[in-house]
Amino acid sequence: MDAMEAILTRRSIRKYIKKPISEKDIADLLESAMNAPSAGNEQPWHFIVINDPKILKKIPSFHNHAQMLNDASLAILVCNDKQLEKHGEMWIQDCSAATENILLAVNAKGLGAVWLGIYPREERISGMRKLLDLPEYIVPFSLLSIGYPAEKKSLTNRYDASRVHQNKW
Ligand SMILES: Cc1cc2nc3c(=O)[nH]c(=O)nc-3n(C[C@H](O)[C@H](O)[C@H](O)COP(=O)(O)O)c2cc1C
Repeated sequence: MDAMEAILTRRSIRKYIKKPISEKDIADLLESAMNAPSAGNEQPWHFIVINDPKILKKIPSFHNHAQMLNDASLAILVCNDKQLEKHGEMWIQDCSAATENILLAVNAKGLGAVWLGIYPREERISGMRKLLDLPEYIVPFSLLSIGYPAEKKSLTNRYDASRVHQNKW
């Protein structure tokens, strides 16, 4: 699958077949994340791979749009390390780029995933903090629920020429 196809065929997948994801695939997803662009190349991220079903099943108790984690093979929590930040709130864009890279790599591998927003929702941040024992300088940003797809999404191209402007508004 080339890059354009990986981008245009990516859709949020929330239903999964129960099947473990190989260590090689997990390593590839993390490699794709850590090769994302970041402000001044600050790379402020950390990633927590969660494959313990007991931990995954606790997350919907403080995240009301995360039921799919009950069936996910694993989740990856993308975190910001405040100690590594050099460019203030640019970390949000860095962690977003890393998150999207994982989504695209997931799709290219024939896996399925959905981005679950954590930051800036206080109850989700404190829920993840308590559940995973995060130190104070670590900010949980996004959670990716990942598995082998058990649903197929119809693809409509969202390109909209009215949102494109040339040289001025
Ligand atoms: C910042 C962000 C937060 C999101 N949070 C959730 C979430 O909590 N639960 C969920 O099921 N989907 C979540 N999504 C996925 C969106 O619902 C999804 O991307 C959107 O409906 C477009 O559909 P698509 O991903 O299939 O193109 C989130 C996406 C983003 C970018």
